[in-house]
Amino acid sequence: MRRLLLLLLLISPAYKNPHLSEDKRIEDLLARMTLHEKVMQLNQFTLGRNDNVNNIGEVVGKLPAEIGSVIYYAADPVLRNAMQRRAMEESRLGIPLIFGYDDIHGFKTLYQISLGQACSWNPSLVEKMCSYSAREARRSGVDWTFSPMIDVARDPRWGRVAEGYGEDPYVNGVFGAASVRGYQGAGLKSLDAVAACLKHYVGYGASEAGRDYVYTEISRPTLWNVYLFPYKMCLDAGAQSLMSSFNDISGIPGSANHYTLTEVLRDTWGFDGPVVSDWDAVKQLINQGYAANLREASSKALMAGVDMDMMSHGYEEYLEDLVESGEIPVSVVDEAVRRVLRIKFRLGLFDNPYIPEETPEKRFFLPEAMETASQLAAESMVLLKNNGVLPIRNASNIAVIGPLAKNSWDLMGNWKGHTEPEEMDVFLDGIRREFPSAEIKYELGCNVNGEGDFSAALALAERSDVVILCLGEKLNWSGENTSRSSIALPGGQEKLLEEIKATGKPVVVTLTNGRPLELNRIDALADAVLETWQPGVNGASALGGILSGRINPSGKLAITFPWSTGQIPIYYNRHKSARRGTQGVYKDITSDPLYPFGHGLSYTTFEYGDPRCIGTPSIDRPFKVEIEVSNTGKADGYETVLWYISDPYCSVLTRPEKELKYFEKKFLKAGEKATFVFEVDPSRDLGYLDGDGRSFLESGEYHVIVGGRDLKIMI
Ligand code: GLC
Repeated sequence: MRRLLLLLLLISPAYKNPHLSEDKRIEDLLARMTLHEKVMQLNQFTLGRNDNVNNIGEVVGKLPAEIGSVIYYAADPVLRNAMQRRAMEESRLGIPLIFGYDDIHGFKTLYQISLGQACSWNPSLVEKMCSYSAREARRSGVDWTFSPMIDVARDPRWGRVAEGYGEDPYVNGVFGAASVRGYQGAGLKSLDAVAACLKHYVGYGASEAGRDYVYTEISRPTLWNVYLFPYKMCLDAGAQSLMSSFNDISGIPGSANHYTLTEVLRDTWGFDGPVVSDWDAVKQLINQGYAANLREASSKALMAGVDMDMMSHGYEEYLEDLVESGEIPVSVVDEAVRRVLRIKFRLGLFDNPYIPEETPEKRFFLPEAMETASQLAAESMVLLKNNGVLPIRNASNIAVIGPLAKNSWDLMGNWKGHTEPEEMDVFLDGIRREFPSAEIKYELGCNVNGEGDFSAALALAERSDVVILCLGEKLNWSGENTSRSSIALPGGQEKLLEEIKATGKPVVVTLTNGRPLELNRIDALADAVLETWQPGVNGASALGGILSGRINPSGKLAITFPWSTGQIPIYYNRHKSARRGTQGVYKDITSDPLYPFGHGLSYTTFEYGDPRCIGTPSIDRPFKVEIEVSNTGKADGYETVLWYISDPYCSVLTRPEKELKYFEKKFLKAGEKATFVFEVDPSRDLGYLDGDGRSFLESGEYHVIVGGRDLKIMI
C-alpha cells in the first residue's frame, strides 16, 4: 500500500501533493499552465441569481470550467459541489474555483448592520458574529466573503455609510480587524472559515457630495492618515484579499491606481494575496475617461495591480492578446495568477474541493449564532434622547405605531444576504413579549414614505398611556447606489409624530435606518429617541428589553448625527480652524451636530475621575494613563471609555483637533468603580503619517482627552 501511495505521489504532479509547500505547488502549477488557462484564473463571473440590483448581473449559464472564480448567489452545497466538479474534472489541470459572496452582516442568520455594530464598541462580539457567519457561508458553498467594508465615511448622504464602521479610521481598523479574525479565525482550511476581502480599496467613502461611484479628492496625508489607516490594521490581522474600488482617487481610479495597488499594497506593505476589482470596475475606467476602450482598461487595471476582473470580461477578452502582442509582460499575468492560486491553496481548495452537503437546519440559525445576534443588537442600539419616559414602567395601554413597527422587509437593511422577511422578528412582537400584562395595540399611521391616514393611529394614541412610534428608512434607502440629497425622514413621518405629540401622550421614537438622519425636529418633539439601526433577526427582543429596562442601553455613536444636512460633512476629528469661537461658524444654524460622535445615554450614570499618568511620559517608550470610572446610578451597565489624543502643534502637517486612539468597554454594577488604562505607545498613538506614509513623532506638548477631561503631557 505504501509503495502504491509513494508511486502515486511520484507520478501525480507536484501541485497536487499536499505535502509540498504552497510556493512549490504554485510554481509547479504555473509552469504547467497555458496562457489561456492563466488568464481564465483572473476572471470572476456570477453563478445563480444576482441579488445586487445595482449590477445588471448576467447569469453565465454555462461557465467555462477553467474560470477562476464565481460570485455564488445560491446557498446550496449540492449546486456548489456540482460546479466545482466541473472545474476539477472537466478542466485540463483541475484547478478549483473559489466561490465569493457578500456575506456582510450575516449569511443566513442576519445581524446588526456594520455601522450599528461599531456603536456596540464590542469588537470581540463582532468577531464572534463573523465566525458564526463564516461557518454558515462556508458550509453553504462560499469560500470568500467580500467583507469587511472599512471605508471611512463622513458624508451620510452616501448610502454606503451603512456598510462600514463610521467616521473614524481607528474604529474602522479595530472592527475591520475583528471581522477578519472572525471570518478567518478557525483556519482558512476549516469549514468554519472564509477568506476575508477588505473593501473598497481605497477612499470610496470620500465620494463627492455623497454621490456614489464618483470622484474623491484625497490628499496624500489624508490618504495615509484616514483612508489607508484601517487597511494596514486589517492586513496585520491577516486579511487574505482586497477589492479595488470604483472611485476616482484624485485623478486615478481606484481600480487602476498603481500607487495604492502596487507601491503601497505590495512594495510598502508586502501583501501577497489577490485584489479583485469591484463589479465591472475595470470597464468603468472607460466611463471615467481613463481608458479609451475595454482593452486599454484591462491593460491599465492589470498593470496597476488588479489581479481578478469581476464581471467586466475585459481580462477574458483581451489579456491573451495583450501578452501575445508584447504590450503586457507575461510576468505580470504570472504574478496575478500566483496570488489567485495562493488564496486557493491557503483555503485548501485543491485538496478538499468539495463541502459536506448538510441540511439547512444543520447550517443555519444555530443557538450560539442567535444568541450573538441578540447580544449584538442589544449592545449596538443607541439611546439618543430620554427625558425620563424610558424605561417604560406601569403602562397598561401601550400604542405601537409606525411604518417600521411590523415591517420585516425594511428591518433587514441592505445586503440582507439569504435571510427571508419571515425569519425576522418584528418590533411589535418583541414589544408584546416584553410587556405581557399590558394592552398593546398597533396602528400603521403611515407608510415609510410618510403617506397614510393618521386618524386610527391618533385615536389609538389618545386612549393609550404611552406611544412607541417606529420610524425609519426603507431597506434600499441605504447601501449601494442610494445617495440622498437630504438625510431627513419623509415629512409624513415627522408629521405623524407631530400629531401624536399633540395628543399630549409621551412618545418614544425608535429609528430603523442605515445612515445618520436629520433629527432636529424629531428630537424637539419626542420624549425619547432610540436608534436601533437595522438590528438583525433578533433586534425586536433587544428593543423590547431596552424599552422595559431589562437591558440597559450602552451603544454610543460611531458616526456624527448632523443637526441638519446642510452641515455635511461634519465629523469629530476635523482639522483645527484658522479662527476659533464665533468666527467661521454658520450664521443661520448651529455649527454643532445634534448628536456627536461618542454620544449615547444609559439608564445609569457614570462619573469620571481625573486622568493621571503612571510614570513619566517619554518619546521613546510606552507609558500609561489611567482613569477611574464609577457607576453612580441605580442600574448596572456597560460603559465605553474613549481615549483621544490631541497634538496642539505639529511642525510638519496640521492635525485634527483630536484623534481617537483607544477604547475599552466594561460592565459596572451599580455603585461599582473600575480603572481604565490606556497604554500609550508614543509612536503609534502620538505619531502621525506624512504624505509618503512615513510615521513621524515630534517631542513637545500633547493632550490625552478622556471623559471630557484633558491631561497635558510633555514628551
Ligand atoms: C458591488 C459592490 C461591492 C460588492 C460587489 C459584489 O457593486 O460595490 O461592495 O462586493 O459588487 O456584489
